[in-house]
Amino acid sequence: MKNLILLGPPGAGKGTQAKRLQDHYGIAQISTGDMLRAEVAAGTPVGREAKAVMEAGHLVSDNIIIRMLGSRISQADCAQGFILDGFPRTVPQAEALDQLLTERKLSLDAVIELKVDDAALVERISGRFTCAKCGTGYHDVFKPPVLAGVCDSCGSTEFTRRADDNRETVTARLEAYHRQTAPLLPYYRAKGNLRTVDGMADIDDVSREIGALLECPPG
Ligand code: AP5
Repeated sequence: MKNLILLGPPGAGKGTQAKRLQDHYGIAQISTGDMLRAEVAAGTPVGREAKAVMEAGHLVSDNIIIRMLGSRISQADCAQGFILDGFPRTVPQAEALDQLLTERKLSLDAVIELKVDDAALVERISGRFTCAKCGTGYHDVFKPPVLAGVCDSCGSTEFTRRADDNRETVTARLEAYHRQTAPLLPYYRAKGNLRTVDGMADIDDVSREIGALLECPPG
């Protein structure tokens, strides 16, 4: 079993690498961003509260996120392990996760930081799009579909772009990362399970580096 956290700024490649880890290890990807977008699309009370916050590039309240995460990691597909993609994002979220893991007699195998320069992130995010049918992620420059306009995975020709993937919102999201999420780096370093990967490398090289460090966990 592997329980992992992928930590990094918006556009660092957390979702891209989490999907690969899910396929390789058969463990569940838990993206709090995807969960929130599903709540927004369904028009639930959580979605209605989160929508404006997300579109402004700010963080949704810890209470909502912690409640959502607590019920998610209790689901059957997490029994073999999980990859947290976009959670925790604040020190109170990290402390709540510690408590949730202790209550379930679980531990963290690794916290993997994807380190990417701020300047590269805006380019990555503004070029991102997703298959509307199966959710496979693409990038105009770095990862276009093999056949232009056709999803490699399911053959659909419909794609979507996220409402918060614009230049102004990305700046706010980066500020939130540096102010509220970056303090998690010393938090996990002090616990001894932080590993840093060069997220500026090619997608395949990043996957290889993560794979190598998971075969040789710390300690
Ligand atoms: P969320 O959905 O988590 O977004 P994010 O953290 O801003 O991260 P992204 O999904 O934008 O990027 P990513 O790191 O997954 O990169 P990706 O792999 O797609 O959160 C959205 C919002 O929800 C937040 O702003 C907040 O409001 C709210 N929220 C979510 N969780 C919360 C929490 N815990 N607490 C409070 N609020 C929360 O890659 C990006 C692009 O780059 C892709 O096109 C990809 O193909 C490309 N790419 C990936 N890797 C590489 C590479 N190595 N080289 C070149 N291109 C690459």
